[in-house]
Amino acid sequence: MHSYFNTFLFFALMAAVQTIAYPSASSLYNPDSPSKGRHHRANDIAFLEGLTNNDQDMSGREGDDPEKYFHESIFHAHYDGRFAYQTLPDKTRLPHLRALVRSYLATMHDLGAETWIMHGSLLGWWWNQRIMPWDDDIDVQVSEPAIEFLASYHNMTVHSFAASDLDISDPDEVELMHSGKRYLLEVNPHYANPSTDDWQNVIDARWIDIDTGLFIDITTVRVNRTAEGTMGRPKGSAYRYPEPPQHLYCKDEHTFWSTQIFPLRTAVFEGVPVRIPYKYQELLAEEYGESALTEREFLVEKHFFDQAKMERKTSKRGSISPSFHLRNFLKRGY
Ligand SMILES: *[C@@H]1O[C@H](CO)[C@@H](O)[C@H](O)[C@H]1NC(C)=O
Ligand SMILES: *[C@@H]1O[C@H](CO)[C@@H](O)[C@H](O)[C@H]1NC(C)=O
Repeated sequence: MHSYFNTFLFFALMAAVQTIAYPSASSLYNPDSPSKGRHHRANDIAFLEGLTNNDQDMSGREGDDPEKYFHESIFHAHYDGRFAYQTLPDKTRLPHLRALVRSYLATMHDLGAETWIMHGSLLGWWWNQRIMPWDDDIDVQVSEPAIEFLASYHNMTVHSFAASDLDISDPDEVELMHSGKRYLLEVNPHYANPSTDDWQNVIDARWIDIDTGLFIDITTVRVNRTAEGTMGRPKGSAYRYPEPPQHLYCKDEHTFWSTQIFPLRTAVFEGVPVRIPYKYQELLAEEYGESALTEREFLVEKHFFDQAKMERKTSKRGSISPSFHLRNFLKRGY
């Protein structure tokens, strides 16, 4: 018995050695052919090696002020040019955005970082608990303790999700994400500067889809410590439910009362639990006007107005066609 086994081992070993020594013509690649070379990376994205498939940096870094930390891509303001070369078509952009927001909310919940949706995302929630069909970004806010925690312990961390982790059931979407998704959490070092004069760095952190370049802008809601009645208040629970209400602000110069945001409410957005500000209706009306909450036509019009303004500014068109927006918005009843 033993000797048969040894003989078998001997031949098995020889076979293995042979395979190594003489690769057959049908092997995975031809070692003599020239390599396509992912290694010719531009130096400015070299530190992302292993994360990005881009060979070239498509971020607008060169045209930006050196003080600015986050760079929007040269092809679209809502894509990270270190991770993509082009915008996505509507058909795949929306599923990727949905996965983006779900992965973000799940991760922040896991980490215990307080966050809620705001601006255009809150408006999308108001109309249909979903991302607006024309959106290409998600707006969220975090509290001061949350950004400090993310900056200290989770900067540049990569978070992986399988399609099944993201509760995706639509077969087309499962297919789209069959190889899983990876997201990068990147915190702007200028988050530590609370001044609104630092207008180049109003975005405190980003949650970036490494495969598509889409991202979520994360802004911190801060206590205005120079405003009357808020000096020397302790952080922690007093941050949330202070008496009298505190003046809060973001570096993008939006201002709020603490009682407008806290205590946060729980709602559902894109099929998953989400936090929203306490006085969501008042905040939306302040930002977009009452009619954006009641008149669908007004909202669509306003969207086209904003889009036209943005296009004049960047003199570039995204991949989103107005007819698509209008059709979907009116048909699906957003
Ligand atoms: C996060 O990491 C990046 C890359 O190393 C670095 O440039 C940035 O300053 C870091 N942010 C913070 C808040 O430390
Ligand atoms: C903070 O409050 C002071 C006093 O009310 C005000 O002058 C200042 O503009 C506020 N800062 C921000 C960033 O809103």
